[in-house]
Amino acid sequence: MQTEIKTLQQGLDEAVSLIKNGEVVVFPTETVYGLGANALDSNAVRKIFEAKGRPSDNPLIAHIADISWIDRLAKDVSEEARAVIKEFMPGPITVILKKSDDVPDEVTACLDTVGVRFPKHKVAREFIKACGVPIAAPSANTSTKISPTTAEHVLEDMRGKVPLILQGGACEVGIESTIIDMTADVPTILRPGAITQEMLAQVLGKVKTFDGKIVVAKAPGMKYRHYAPSCEMVVAKSAESAVEEYRRQYKNKVGAVVIGKSNYLDGIEDVLRINFIDLGDSDAEAMRNIYAAMHKAQERYGCIICQDFGERGLGASIMNRINKASGGKRV
Ligand code: TXA
Ligand code: MG
Repeated sequence: MQTEIKTLQQGLDEAVSLIKNGEVVVFPTETVYGLGANALDSNAVRKIFEAKGRPSDNPLIAHIADISWIDRLAKDVSEEARAVIKEFMPGPITVILKKSDDVPDEVTACLDTVGVRFPKHKVAREFIKACGVPIAAPSANTSTKISPTTAEHVLEDMRGKVPLILQGGACEVGIESTIIDMTADVPTILRPGAITQEMLAQVLGKVKTFDGKIVVAKAPGMKYRHYAPSCEMVVAKSAESAVEEYRRQYKNKVGAVVIGKSNYLDGIEDVLRINFIDLGDSDAEAMRNIYAAMHKAQERYGCIICQDFGERGLGASIMNRINKASGGKRV
């Protein structure tokens, strides 16, 4: 199969006819690129799992192009859930709701709930709207690989496995959506993201963060290793320990790279003599750039040494991904 990258203008008609014929299409969102199929067609949804090599007991998110579509996918939507939807959609959030009878088991992995997301990205919205059906989509990477934040990342990973990638440039948010379970007694964050606990608490009063003790897999990384670069990755607690680790790797003939925000790198003496990737000035920029930096680093280096972004706000969301990518290894 040939894989082509096309702009919305060049590729929209083809994308819509692929979806109508039960095939998959890759499309950009503001978080990461998604690998989409008609969420109401079980056979089409199965093709997502095939292309991704993903275990079919991991449920998919259904993407919509208008708030009104929620009632096609979900039932018994609470007032609290509606408040979250009103505040944050369209945007980088997925809301877990009780599923309607129209949603096939292939999407929800037989759960009685469904994850619903209304992306903000213009290309995503126009594509989904033109299809006229909700689009089930995981991130457009093969299972366990880093999520793609450019069309070129997707091509590198999925060439020959998908017919069409819609071009949408670099994703602005850069990590996957926040997932909040609105069917739990206390609304519970299953995966942190750009919509933070603090922001959700403003609307809900009370939210629970995932505490690591749930046994049933409810969000990625709890059961499957996720977001892993092909090289080693460690988190450095300080700029000094980053440099120490860099030297240790060098002695072992491993080319390493330090990645962090500008002010972190500024704290490294002689930074120009080491390999580094600058993630930008703010946590929002670091979040936007982190996956692209991991993609670049894994191609060139044997070890990624990454800044610790702390436990609060966007920093906590970035760390959630980094901890998984590094397997929790710290220096
Ligand atoms: O930003 C995103 O959310 C991206 C873009 C493409 O929208 N999508 C994404 O999908 O990250 P994926 O499949 O890589 O991660 C979605 C995760 C699933 O792995 C699953 O654990 C969780 O969402 N999920 C989906 N439906 C669920 C449900 N009903 N209950 C609990 N967790 C669910
Ligand atoms: Mg994923």
